[in-house]
Amino acid sequence: TRTPVNVTVTGAAGQIGYALLFRIASGHLLGADVPVKLRLLEIPQGLKAAEGTAMELDDCAFPLLQGIEITDDPNVGFDGANVALLVGARPRTKGMERGDLLSANGGIFKPQGKAINDNAADDIKVLVVGNPANTNALIAQAAAPDVPAERFTAMTRLDHNRALSQLAKKTGSTVSDIKRLTIWGNHSATQYPDIFHAEIAGKNAAEVVNDEQWLADTFIPTVAKRGAAIIEARGASSAASAANAAIDHVHTWVNGTAAGDWTSMGIPSDGSYGVPEGLISSFPVTCKDGKYEIVQGLDINEFSRARIDASVQELKEERDAVRELGLI
Ligand code: NAI
Repeated sequence: TRTPVNVTVTGAAGQIGYALLFRIASGHLLGADVPVKLRLLEIPQGLKAAEGTAMELDDCAFPLLQGIEITDDPNVGFDGANVALLVGARPRTKGMERGDLLSANGGIFKPQGKAINDNAADDIKVLVVGNPANTNALIAQAAAPDVPAERFTAMTRLDHNRALSQLAKKTGSTVSDIKRLTIWGNHSATQYPDIFHAEIAGKNAAEVVNDEQWLADTFIPTVAKRGAAIIEARGASSAASAANAAIDHVHTWVNGTAAGDWTSMGIPSDGSYGVPEGLISSFPVTCKDGKYEIVQGLDINEFSRARIDASVQELKEERDAVRELGLI
């Protein structure tokens, strides 16, 4: 029998947490043969609701679920963690400036990074979902100097999945026909979904679409503003699709990308494609044996270059702002 993998979820009592925990416990995160122990990290006000969710997890009698612990202490929450999903964050509220948002989140992700540094297992893998995800990941990473920097990642898989779906609709194909799509940059309105290297049933996607105006005026804004469209329609922000993307992100990282395909992950840049080293930016990556690698050698055309640069510029500004605030 395999030893259980310790999975810590922050913001466990929130709406993403509610959509996420049951899928982790049923084997979708790591594999149908991998037992898990869950740690739910919440703030004191969230503990009671987290206990309610834990009761429901019990009531599912998941064969793979070997324990649930609930805490508001990050040192306990990350003790021995192999996988950490940092979902809980401070949302932007009306009238909040970017600096306020970054410092409020610094107050969450800096101590959590330190607690990961001091308590997590040596093989810890971190996915930051809570927004602003890329910069929150940077803050947590900076507070964890003993953890290899590449273990801190930010989620752009929801953007990737949204782009797959939009492209499939436009071209009358299915998402499983599409390979090698890329989200570049920040998980924000400046992100760039790139289809120039994507393939649809083996044909170049940009050639199949053959409509640069659709790309610029419909596809890119639809993907980038999808979060707002969901709020408008549902009256609440995307939760099940965000949880699904978190599952996909970690599953791919651990279990690998399919031959001939890649995925998108927000990861610390090694300087590839002109993205300054250290920025946590989304790249095309392949995964194998629990490690990811940036896909190298792609030709970046002018259309793409301008958009990647704009999103990277925003990441630089966020990094400079958290530096000024003493958060990194
Ligand atoms: P929510 O407000 O329903 O839940 C957040 C939970 O986090 C609450 O239960 C709260 O008590 C908890 N929390 C707050 N501070 C905490 C801390 N220091 N430690 C532990 N728990 C803490 O929010 P929801 O809808 O679940 O979204 C969570 C985050 O995910 C938001 O920041 C949202 O913007 C982000 N998000 C990111 C996406 C992405 O693609 N990267 C997609 C969708 C949402």
